[in-house]
Parts: sequence; C-alpha cells; structure tokens
Amino acid sequence: MSMWWFITTLAITAFFYNSPVYAYDNNPLQDICVAVSDSHASVFVNGKICKDPKLATANDFYFSGLNVSGNEVPGFGFAVKSVDVNNMPGLNTLGISFIRGDLEPQRIAPLHTHPRATEMITILEGTVYAGFLVPDPANFFKSRLFSKILNPGDVFVFPIGLIHFLYNVGYKKATCLFYFNSQNPGVIGIPNSIFASKPPVPDDIVAKGFHLNKTEIAELRKKFS
Ligand SMILES: *[C@@H]1O[C@H](CO)[C@@H](O)[C@H](O)[C@H]1NC(C)=O
Ligand SMILES: *[C@@H]1O[C@H](CO)[C@@H](O)[C@H](O)[C@H]1NC(C)=O
Repeated sequence: MSMWWFITTLAITAFFYNSPVYAYDNNPLQDICVAVSDSHASVFVNGKICKDPKLATANDFYFSGLNVSGNEVPGFGFAVKSVDVNNMPGLNTLGISFIRGDLEPQRIAPLHTHPRATEMITILEGTVYAGFLVPDPANFFKSRLFSKILNPGDVFVFPIGLIHFLYNVGYKKATCLFYFNSQNPGVIGIPNSIFASKPPVPDDIVAKGFHLNKTEIAELRKKFS
C-alpha cells in the first residue's frame, strides 16, 4: 500500500469521524425533565422547560384513555388519540410517543409525513393497506412505492420524513397503534399543506408544479379549505 493511498484513507476517515451528527431528540441530560405547562413561558428550548424534579409525580408519567378512540380528523373517517409530550409531560426529552388511530372502512389517512420521527405501525383490528414513498436516487423525478396489506399483529415502518398513507380496505373499523421515535413527531399533510395554505401559494407555482390550470387549482383549493 502506497503512503499516498494510506494518507488519503486516513484523511477520509478523519473527515467522516469529525462530521457533525444531526440528532433529533437529544438524549436526556438528567433522569427526568417533566415539561412545565406554561403557555407564557418565553424561554424556547429544544423540547419543553423542565419542572423542578422534586415536584414531579407519577401522574406526569401516566396517561389514561387509549382504550377508546380519539377525535375524528374532520371529513376523513380517521380518529386519532395522541400520547405525546403535550398530554404526558414526563415524555419531555425522552424521544418517544405514540398514537391510537381508528380508521372507518374504505377511508384513508391521507398522504402525510412526520418531519421528526420514524413511525412503526401495528394493527390491532381490521385490515389496512399501508405504503410509503421512497425517493429514487437513480431518477430525481420518480419515487418507489413500498406497500403492504396489514392484518392484526402485522408491523410496518415508515422511515423518518417519508410520505406515507393508510387505507382501510376492510369492511370494519381498523384500530392501529403508531409509535414514533420523537416526543413530538410533527405532521405535514401533503394535500392540505399545498392547497389550503394561508396565504395561498401563488397560482403560477402550483400550476407549473402540478401541471394544472388555474380553474383546477381554484377547485382544489375549495375542496381543501
Ligand atoms: C376506558 O378506560 C377508562 C379509564 O380506565 C375507564 O374509565 C373507561 O370506562 C374505559 N372505557 C371503556 C369504553 O372501556
Ligand atoms: C382546465 O383544465 C380542465 C380539465 O383538465 C379543462 O376542462 C378546462 O377547460 C381548463 N381550463 C382552462 C382555462 O384552460
């Protein structure tokens, strides 16, 4: 092995070892960090401000009510009940949360993405067609659909940030659990972010981006508003 090759390899290795690591939820720096519930708090941290640990109680780490479905996303036949840092303050800094989802027959959880979390899904009841879109590195303008029919006990994973959907293809309600590796995964609904923004994305941008004319855009905006 030539000296030059050796030095190059060393330099490349050093470069990768020194690269910054982009973490999402930081590992906790203390045993517990129960979020204070103060809408007027003016200090912004990555997460929520911690309560004095001496004042934390078991209830900060407890949630009850996942035995019943949550509120329906208006018009979608999809009810969600979320257990995250906002209703379980003890989750602050722990990097985990989950949701119960109930999807009526033949209804969908529309195309969406969670910017801060990978999502694992398991089916408790019903039959769901689930899929996510993976950008195709060989063709910037295409993606690949990875999808599965899921029955009770089946588990599927939507990698962080990728667009995904669910469709209840059965004839009874489907109940699912969704686990996230973030205390606050966030959600971006693809159709409504685009067609129901305030103020609207300029017509030309939507028209050129989606190959639509202005009449079609106006109709879509009406449907999503
Ligand atoms: C759900 O759990 C709560 C709390 O344990 C309980 O009060 C309620 O009766 C349960 N509801 C159903 C429908 O099982
Ligand atoms: C827009 O597209 C629709 C359907 O594709 C078509 O019927 C309509 O004539 C078009 N409108 C204009 C103004 O081009």
